[in-house]
This record gives sequence, C-alpha cells and structure tokens, in this order.
Amino acid sequence: MSATDNAFDLLVHKAFIIPSCEVYGGIGGFYDFGPLGTRVKQRMLSAWRDWCLRQEGFFEIDGSVVVRKEVLVASGHVKSFIDPMVKCGKCQEAFRADHLIEEQLKRNVEGTSVEGMNKILSKSKVFCPSCGTRLPAAIEEFHMMFPLSVGAGKKMIEGYLRPETAQTIFIDFPKIFKATREKLPLGIAQLGRSFRNEISPRQGLIRLREFEQLEIEIFLDPEKIDEVAGWEKLKGTAVTLRKVDGGDEIASVEALLGKRLIPNKYVAYWLAKEALFYEKVLGIPSDKFRFRFLGPDETPFYSKGNIDMEVSTDYGWKETIGNAYRTDHDLGTHAKSSGKDFAVTVDGKKFVPHVVEPSWGLQRMFYAALEHAYRPKDRDREWAWFALPAWLAPYDVNVFSLVKKDGLSEKAEEVNSTLSAAGLSTFCDHSGSIGKRYARADEMGVPCCVTIDYQTKEDGTVTVRDRDTMKQVRVGMAYLAAMIRGRAKPPLGIT
Ligand code: GLY
Repeated sequence: MSATDNAFDLLVHKAFIIPSCEVYGGIGGFYDFGPLGTRVKQRMLSAWRDWCLRQEGFFEIDGSVVVRKEVLVASGHVKSFIDPMVKCGKCQEAFRADHLIEEQLKRNVEGTSVEGMNKILSKSKVFCPSCGTRLPAAIEEFHMMFPLSVGAGKKMIEGYLRPETAQTIFIDFPKIFKATREKLPLGIAQLGRSFRNEISPRQGLIRLREFEQLEIEIFLDPEKIDEVAGWEKLKGTAVTLRKVDGGDEIASVEALLGKRLIPNKYVAYWLAKEALFYEKVLGIPSDKFRFRFLGPDETPFYSKGNIDMEVSTDYGWKETIGNAYRTDHDLGTHAKSSGKDFAVTVDGKKFVPHVVEPSWGLQRMFYAALEHAYRPKDRDREWAWFALPAWLAPYDVNVFSLVKKDGLSEKAEEVNSTLSAAGLSTFCDHSGSIGKRYARADEMGVPCCVTIDYQTKEDGTVTVRDRDTMKQVRVGMAYLAAMIRGRAKPPLGIT
C-alpha cells in the first residue's frame, strides 16, 4: 500500500484537499480545498455556470449562510430534517441506524420509521462498528441542522446555518421576480455552502457536514410545464434510468418522458443537461452514471417526484444530483408563514409558480470527476496520476528546463511568463530530475509539459510532452500558446 493507491489518497497526498484542522486532530466531515483542488473546483464551477446559467439565461444570487428559524420552520426542515441515531451502550459512539442496518443486515430501510427500525434492532443483531458490542433498540431522532443565536439580549434572534441553498431563493423570489422584469419561466441559482450535522460523516468527500451546493430553482407556470426552450436540441439525449421497480431503461429523455418515467418535460430537459455535463465536461463515462426515480418512501417531503443522478464510485453508487418537482410547496408555505404575497401576475393570470429544482453537490461532483480520472501506477508509469480533461486541470501547462545551467532555466522562466501573459495557467518547475518533474505534473493532472533544451537556444523550438501518451513533439514558440489553449477549450459551446 502506498499513499497514492486510490483517487482519494492521491488527492490528499497532493493536497488537492486537506482534512480540516488536521494538525489539531481533524474535524470529521470537513475538508479544505488546497491550491490544486481550488483550481480544479473553480474551473468546474466556471464551466457549470456557463452551461447551466449563461446558456439558459438564468440568474444567480449569493445569500447569507445564516437564516432565521422561521424560514426553516416554514420550509419543514425544523420538523423533518432528522436522521435516526443509535448510540453504543459501551463505547458511546453514535451511528446512523439506517446505514448500519443496510450494511450489516442488507435490508433497505429507506422511509422506515424509528419504531420500525427499533423493531429490527430488537429482533436482529446489529453491532457497533467501533467496539463490536450489540447495539440497543434505542434509536433516537437526531436533528441535522446547526442552530445558533444571532446577537444578544432582547434582540437575540434564533437561526441556523442553512441546510440547503434553495430557501434563500424562495424567500427572495418576490424581489427577484420584480427586478428581472416579471417573466416566467425564471431560473434562479445559488452556489454556496450548506451545513448538515451528519451523525457519522465518512467516505471522504461523500458525506460532509459542510459542503457546497449548486442549486437552481426554475419558477414556471404549471400550465406551461411542457414549454421548455432548448428541448428540441436536447430531447434526443440518451440516459440510463433506474425505475422504481429496479429495472434499467436506456433511452432518450423524450422517450422516457413519453412513457411517463420522468415527472415532466423540465425535469427531462435537465436530466439531459446533467448527463451531457457529466460525460462531456467532467469526462465520466456514460456507463458510470445513471438516473434513479425515487420511490415514495425516499422522496423528500417537499417533492412530487424526484430523480437522482447516481455515479459509480469506490464507495458504491452515490447520489450527486437531486432533481425535484417542488410544485408550489415552498412559495406556498413561505406565503402562509410570512403573510407576504408570493403569487405572480403573468398575462393577466394570478398564480403561485411551480418549481423544478436541479440540485448539484459540488464536492461529490468534484470527487467523482477525479476518481474517474485516476490512473494507478503501472508498467509504463511508476506513479499514479490524474487523466483530467484539460479544461479542468489545475494548470494548462508546466514549463521545465532540461537542465538548470547554460541559461536554460532563465529561458524556461521567460517562456513561462510568455504563456502566462497569453492567459494560460502555468507553473515553472526547476527542482529534481526531468523525469521527476514529469511525474509531478502527471500527479497533478497537468495535460502537457513544455521543456526548454539546448535546441531551443538554436532554433526557438521547445518540446511539448503529452500527459496521456507521454509522447513529445517539437513546436515553434509562435504556435505554443495557441496549441495549448486549443486543447483546454471545454466542449458544449462553453466559453
Ligand atoms: N435543495 C435540495 C437539497 O438540498 O437536497
């Protein structure tokens, strides 16, 4: 075993991600993005904003992470955002009861009540993963939000760290609707941090207490739910859909909608958008992700139909996107609780808009892309590396000098500056043998390396080494920046 035997280990080894507060013993469920991870994340977000917002004509907001308690009472989170917790009578460690039952008894208990799970624990033996003691049939409801108080004294306000970014969009909707010329459909997104006090965070970046969501709320006239701009272009996109009965169907989103396997045309359109982004931008093969129609027991309390995107990972199939048809649930409940008017008047008709919500998880998407780009060491390469799409790589290019002497390292710095001035993200590395520097670039997923050698001084050409083939070509300096930029251009018309 080495520190780079799987994608997660290589991510930590190269400080793409750093366990939060690691030097003080860590804090479960929190990770920092290091320099390389931050670059990859920013590139992913930039492509996402282009594909999901700019190309759709949608708006983005940036709300505060603290919300008043009333918001989350109205949304239903204060009542319903709970997980079943069981504590070991011996070592006192706490666990998600449903996860342990699923893992140890191989029983799906999604939607099962606390009483139902307590009955299972009294009949069947489930053991503490830490100390091996049999767990008691004493499951409690554990609230997943982080409460806080804002201010002091008489003016103190009860609040929470937001458990989802969606709610700000709902409560700001009347103002945004007015500010954006009172038109539907209206797409409003929020990208930002959400907080959930998971009982037992685990599986690397999969189950976190602080994570980032990319949520879009599409407000629409329910009578026009079949009028989706862009449908003709994407309706033929093929996806895999796991049905409620467990069978898989591979077909175009149009065909699946025709069979009523997707709740409405907006959701169908977004499944196509998501599939194209995962395959073409993130580089995840289409047989490694699927959509799953959730059964009634799993469907969130606010939704009239949910379809999750799931990706095959080292931890099993994991949800990375949730698509919910939230109807008028949120605007309706906020109208009732706040006493404010959330209805709109469009074309002389007054109504409360319905909402379709694609909700993407950033850390899970990041991890899935990196895991599928991970290549273990083999006969050709004695180091593990990331075959990341060039447009997601932390650097477009690394620049090296073959040797440090004879003015080659100065020339390398000069080439590096020229490439940087041309808008490329580059890094000049002088330390260690040239082989070691290629290995380091591969570990970071850098798609190509430029090396300055003695011939550069004679004819101005450099070698360009391709990460994936390890082959080198000689290129004139005049073409270098354009060649590298051409490879780093994302697909799907993303600019
Ligand atoms: N807004 C949906 C979610 O946070 O899961």
